[in-house]
Amino acid sequence: MSQINSLEGQVALVTGSSSGIGAGVALALAQAGAKVVVNYAHSTKGAEKIVSKIVSLGGEAIAVQADVSQEEQVKAMFHKAITTYETVDILVNNAGLQKDFSLVDMSLEAWNKVIGINLTGQFLCAREAVKEFIRRGIVPERSSALGKIICMSSVHETIPWAGHCNYAASKGGVMMLMKSMAQELAPQKIRVNSIAPGAIKTPINKEAWDTPEAEEKLLELIPYKRVGEPDDIGKAAVWLASDASDYVNGLTLFVDGGMTLYPGFAGNG
Ligand code: BGC
Repeated sequence: MSQINSLEGQVALVTGSSSGIGAGVALALAQAGAKVVVNYAHSTKGAEKIVSKIVSLGGEAIAVQADVSQEEQVKAMFHKAITTYETVDILVNNAGLQKDFSLVDMSLEAWNKVIGINLTGQFLCAREAVKEFIRRGIVPERSSALGKIICMSSVHETIPWAGHCNYAASKGGVMMLMKSMAQELAPQKIRVNSIAPGAIKTPINKEAWDTPEAEEKLLELIPYKRVGEPDDIGKAAVWLASDASDYVNGLTLFVDGGMTLYPGFAGNG
């Protein structure tokens, strides 16, 4: 009997997967049976480490360098993925970064960089993925869908974030990009959903959890009283990528220990 969450025989491309949430997602998808394209921008070492880990667990993976904000690099990355593994079935639009400044101190460069990677990068990768889904056609033995796209959003697609206008705007943009793509592509049997992580222990927010004092302060924002781990997001990604979620389309799945429940209102207001 085949497993409900199985990704056996499918190919997943995970952007920004040399560390953090992307690495957790790449590993989880590989453990569910997918061949994984581990994309990275700078850290060849980090990407190779994830590839080795997947291979040591009996999976298949390759590392492919590309800056997702650069159209030609994105096209070259998809070409490499398709010539290596024949197609792409699952895209996880994960690559993202923060460049935090108060509004008045924010340079146009810091604004453009964050929008370029976090939002434009998701558009460029989604466009190439959808072209490939359509070229390949449906393979019912592998999946009921023609293809699946998972956009990595954030609780900050809905929670405003002072000092991080560029980042919050990029994630608000991801929300409407995801929903508009989901509406447009559903008739072609392409599913598009988002995961909105809360605070997950990764390099992006290290100073928010790497001392006991910082972690205690962060936990004030998390009703479940635990900072998340990359694998929490990996498990959600496996579900959204598999046929177990075949009727789920245009959803943002918050994986945040309740951060979006306005914990400041408990016993207040
Ligand atoms: C940010 C983290 C932050 C978390 C919760 C994420 O999207 O990248 O830095 O800890 O949201 O605020």
